[in-house]
Amino acid sequence: MSERGLRISHLHASVAGTQILKGIDLAVAPGSVHALMGPNGSGKSTLAFSMAGHPSYDVASGSVTLDGEELIGLAPDKRAKSGLFLSFQYPAAIPGVSVANFIRTARQAVKPDDLTPAKFRAMIFEKLDTLDMDAAFLSRYVNDGFSGGEKKRLEMLQLAMLSPKYAVLDETDSGLDVDALKAVGKSVNALRESDGGKDIGFLIITHYPRILQYIAADHVHIMMDGRIVKSGGPELANLIERDGYDKIREEVAAGAV
Ligand SMILES: Nc1ncnc2c1ncn2[C@@H]1O[C@H](COP(=O)(O)OP(=O)(O)OP(=O)(O)O)[C@@H](O)[C@H]1O
Ligand SMILES: [Mg+2]
Repeated sequence: MSERGLRISHLHASVAGTQILKGIDLAVAPGSVHALMGPNGSGKSTLAFSMAGHPSYDVASGSVTLDGEELIGLAPDKRAKSGLFLSFQYPAAIPGVSVANFIRTARQAVKPDDLTPAKFRAMIFEKLDTLDMDAAFLSRYVNDGFSGGEKKRLEMLQLAMLSPKYAVLDETDSGLDVDALKAVGKSVNALRESDGGKDIGFLIITHYPRILQYIAADHVHIMMDGRIVKSGGPELANLIERDGYDKIREEVAAGAV
């Protein structure tokens, strides 16, 4: 049995014929929280899409394993079934499909028939409560007319209802107000403290260290031009806040990192 964890090894991927990921290595152990930061266009979302199995993202080499199981080559739904959850920077609206039905269908696909309808209902109301979300949310169409903060809360509700093994969150924190950021932090923490939640590993893609005030990251990685150029502890995020990316860029250019 291979070692547990979400392991990205030597991942190379391209989009529309251009190589974007140039050898990513990153391992998220069960229960740990990793933050991935980096300037615009460095390839963070490309990493998330490549892990999700999005058809526009072409993985040329490398691997992504989840508790030993290779994900590259699997259809996106199989990856979800293995226990991978991804939330995206710009989630799509699905007019005509209610939040309740959407989450029920997603749960059925990932964990078929493990909850009776009554248990599912009880669980979703409990999670709504934790997230300070109104029950009226359930009958609205998915992301249709949702504000940025509401979209984020819906993602957190999905995350809580699917209880994955590993979650990759591509944060839109630039568009979120402090309350929405706190809601993301609170829901991640609530999930980590819930039954079976403490083993969930997180990879949180973010621009600003702000979110890390609410979720304590064990590791912080900096991506530039399709590579992880520096890894460290939470202090790395504060350094970025203070100095921006220029200093690290200079270090990379000088071959110091
Ligand atoms: N579908 C696509 N077609 C063409 N180019 C793409 C596509 N997706 C990504 N790219 C390019 O890949 C590069 C990396 O983009 P990516 O979205 O991964 O960056 P990012 O680090 O997530 O940036 P941001 O911080 O702005 O979210 C960019 O130059 C982008 O234009
Ligand atoms: Mg992005």
